[in-house]
Amino acid sequence: MSIRASVRALSRYHFTPRASTVKLDQNESPSDLPEALKAEAVTRLSASSWQRYPELHPQTLERAIARRHDWDPEGVVVANGSNVLLQALVIAAGIGQSVVTVTPTFPVYAMQAQLLGGDLVEVPLGPGFRLPGAELAAALRGRRGVAFVANPAAPTGNLHSREELAPLLAAIDDDWLLVLDEAYADFARSDHLDLVARQPQLVSVRTFSKAFGLAGVRVGYLLAHPEVAVEVRKALLPFSLSSLQAAVALTVLDHPAYVEGRVALAVRERDRLFQALTELPGVVPLPSATNFLLFRVERPDQVYAGLLERGVAIRRQDHLPGLDGYLRVTAGALDENDAFLRALREVLEPEVVGG
Ligand SMILES: Cc1ncc(COP(=O)(O)O)c(C=O)c1O
Repeated sequence: MSIRASVRALSRYHFTPRASTVKLDQNESPSDLPEALKAEAVTRLSASSWQRYPELHPQTLERAIARRHDWDPEGVVVANGSNVLLQALVIAAGIGQSVVTVTPTFPVYAMQAQLLGGDLVEVPLGPGFRLPGAELAAALRGRRGVAFVANPAAPTGNLHSREELAPLLAAIDDDWLLVLDEAYADFARSDHLDLVARQPQLVSVRTFSKAFGLAGVRVGYLLAHPEVAVEVRKALLPFSLSSLQAAVALTVLDHPAYVEGRVALAVRERDRLFQALTELPGVVPLPSATNFLLFRVERPDQVYAGLLERGVAIRRQDHLPGLDGYLRVTAGALDENDAFLRALREVLEPEVVGG
C-alpha cells in the first residue's frame, strides 16, 4: 500500500458510540433546536437556489458572525466545524514547520500535526493544569509554526488567565500563529478577543457545536486579522459550506436570547453537578468554565462501566497523560444530570443505596 508512514503510524480518533439513554459523553447541548427555529431555518433554506453553488466562502454568514463579535468581516473564516479550521491552520502554518501545544489537550492539534507533517512539540501542563507559559515560550524559540491552546482548556475545563498566558503572548512574533481554541468560551462568559484584535499573530477559533447546540450541522469559525484570514481561507476547499449549514447558522444567530438561555442553563447545571460531586465520597471534581466537568475517582474503569450498565454514557479520560483516575461528564438536561448522579451514587455505594 502506498499509504504514507506518518498516516499509518497515527491511531484513529477515539470515540465509541454508546446506545445509552443518558448521553453525556460528547459535550453537546442537551436539547435540540425548537421546532419554530427549525422551521425558520427550513424556510430560509427553501428560499435559496439548490441547483446553484453556495457562496464561494459563506460571506453572508461571515458578516453575521462579524456583527456578533463586532469584528472585521474580512477577518472571519467559516468552515464545516472548527476541527476543519484547526486542520486548515496546520496546513497554513504547521506543515514543514512546528506545531506546539500542551498535553493533555484536545487531540486534534497533535493528530493533524502528525498526519500532515508538522514537527509536533507537546509541553506538559503545569500543576493544577495551569498553562506552562515559560516552557511554551521556550518551545517556540528557534522554531516557527503554529501553537494551539484550548481556552477554556479541554478536557480539563479550566480557564487560563491573562497572567498564565502572558509569557506565551510575549514570545509570539511573526514566526508564529497562536491559536486560542475558544470552543467553550460562551460558557466561561469571557474570551481573549481583545488580545486577538491587538496582536495579528493571534487567532480565536469558535464553534456552533456547543453553546449554539448545532453539533450535527457542523459549523465553526475563526476570528483573526484579515491578513491571516485570507491565507487560512486558501487552505479550505472552495464551496465547502453548504447552503443548509449556512441557513441554520444564520437562523440561530438571529436569536441570541435563545443561545444565551442555553448557556445559562448549561452553566447552572454544571455548577449544580460540581456541588453534588464534591459531596460524594472519593469523588474529586475540578472547577470548570465549560459545559463539562472532569472528576477523579478511585476506579474509573469500574465507575465508567457501572454507569454504562445503568444507561449513562460519560467519557473516560484516564488514559491521558496526567489524568490518571479522571472521567468527564457533560452537563446535560436537569433530568439527565439527576439520572447520572443517581447512577453514580449506586455505583459508588451499592450496599448503601441497595439497602
Ligand atoms: C476544544 C475543542 N475544540 C474544537 C472542537 C471541535 O468542534 P467542532 O464540532 O466545531 O468541530 C471540540 C469538540 O469537542 C473541542 O472540545
